[in-house]
Amino acid sequence: MDAIALLKADHKTVEALFRRFELAGRNAKKLKRSLVNRMVRELAIHAAIEEQVFYPAVRAKAEKLVDPILEALEEHHVVKWLLNELEGLAPDAERFEAKVKVLIENVRTHVAEEEKELFPQVRKAFTPAELREMAEMLTLAKRTAPTRPHPRAPDTPPSNLVAGAVSAVLDMGKDAVQSARHKVEGFTSRRAKSSGKRRGGKRAAQRPQGNGMTPTPGAEPHYVM
Ligand SMILES: [Fe+2]
Ligand SMILES: [Fe+2]
Repeated sequence: MDAIALLKADHKTVEALFRRFELAGRNAKKLKRSLVNRMVRELAIHAAIEEQVFYPAVRAKAEKLVDPILEALEEHHVVKWLLNELEGLAPDAERFEAKVKVLIENVRTHVAEEEKELFPQVRKAFTPAELREMAEMLTLAKRTAPTRPHPRAPDTPPSNLVAGAVSAVLDMGKDAVQSARHKVEGFTSRRAKSSGKRRGGKRAAQRPQGNGMTPTPGAEPHYVM
């Protein structure tokens, strides 16, 4: 596999998540939230490896591709802000669907530009062996890439390499906390269900679940981690 095939495979993975989101029913809130979590992760990693390896290599090799690369960096920047806001937005927030829609539109436009305009020129500027070698570097970069968006962080070398490494460590911590929280929530809701069944009767079933802090309709959108 060469660098372009690797990046196109990433694009396909993200497009599959977009399609699943678009086909999910209006009330499939939990599914949509988990699809957005995966979009955040996949796009954060993909943007990071392009910024750390692919774009700098293209800039260094082909002078005429500097402007398209600068435009691509700006497009990444906008997408990272959207991802950053979506990261903590509850799926029943008023702007959740609209924000995901704008994210999808932005990413599709960016991907189309890369695949139809940038990649064909990159293929001409590099040898097949160079593109295969770049794929190896992209694969290595994936292992240490940040898993969350950092729109304020530098996006060009050498600063992005240092900032990316620090962000990746912080993201790992946040990912671990998020995963532990999901496990605890799953455990608590399973326990609540089974104790409800044991008690039986309507009173147990009608008792409010959770911590009683469910937002009231019309309240400010609440955020989840
Ligand atoms: Fe890109
Ligand atoms: Fe890309």
